[in-house]
Amino acid sequence: MPITIKEITTLETYSVRHAVLRVGRPLEECAMDGDDLSTTFHLGAFDGDLHVGVATFLKSEAVDLPINFPAETTYYQLRGMGVVADHQGKGIGADIVTQGIHRLKELNIDILWFNARIKAVPFYERLGFTSYGEPFEVKNIGTHYKMYAAL
Ligand SMILES: CC(C)(COP(=O)(O)OP(=O)(O)OC[C@H]1O[C@@H](n2cnc3c(N)ncnc32)[C@H](O)[C@@H]1OP(=O)(O)O)[C@@H](O)C(=O)NCCC(=O)NCCS
Repeated sequence: MPITIKEITTLETYSVRHAVLRVGRPLEECAMDGDDLSTTFHLGAFDGDLHVGVATFLKSEAVDLPINFPAETTYYQLRGMGVVADHQGKGIGADIVTQGIHRLKELNIDILWFNARIKAVPFYERLGFTSYGEPFEVKNIGTHYKMYAAL
């Protein structure tokens, strides 16, 4: 079945967020700050009718990056990126990020940044993102690195 990627609602993100990113945690923990802002968009990947991947893109204030960017630079943050276990390694995560970047470029966004789980850092590096700064711990989840790319 071909994979399709489309915009979804906040509530529609929860099934994959819960299965991949909040395993064994209460469903309420799937909520993320800014989920319902008008500037936020969520992408879902579907194998037929089966929802298999998710990512959320949030408008962001300027963040400190290893390179100085001009004051007018525009930023988005990627959050809640996940692909269900039996669909990982098939290019779906890369397709979601690529489609998100395509949309951000249409919105004239300059920088996409996020906090990446250490295990996912090589996935993002393959997509052209750079990690920076010191690793840090997120409670219940583990070690993360900050990453970004100029779009
Ligand atoms: C990380 C994740 C989103 C990647 O999605 P995916 O659909 O499995 O990744 P893709 O199949 O699109 O992989 C794209 C490329 O990255 C590579 N890759 C993916 N995950 C990787 C990993 N953990 N380590 C090294 N390489 C990885 C793939 O081999 C592929 O390489 P290629 O282009 O040379 O073939 C997914 O594995 C996942 O949901 N993991 C658990 C939750 C998680 O860590 N989310 C990220 C939170 S920051």
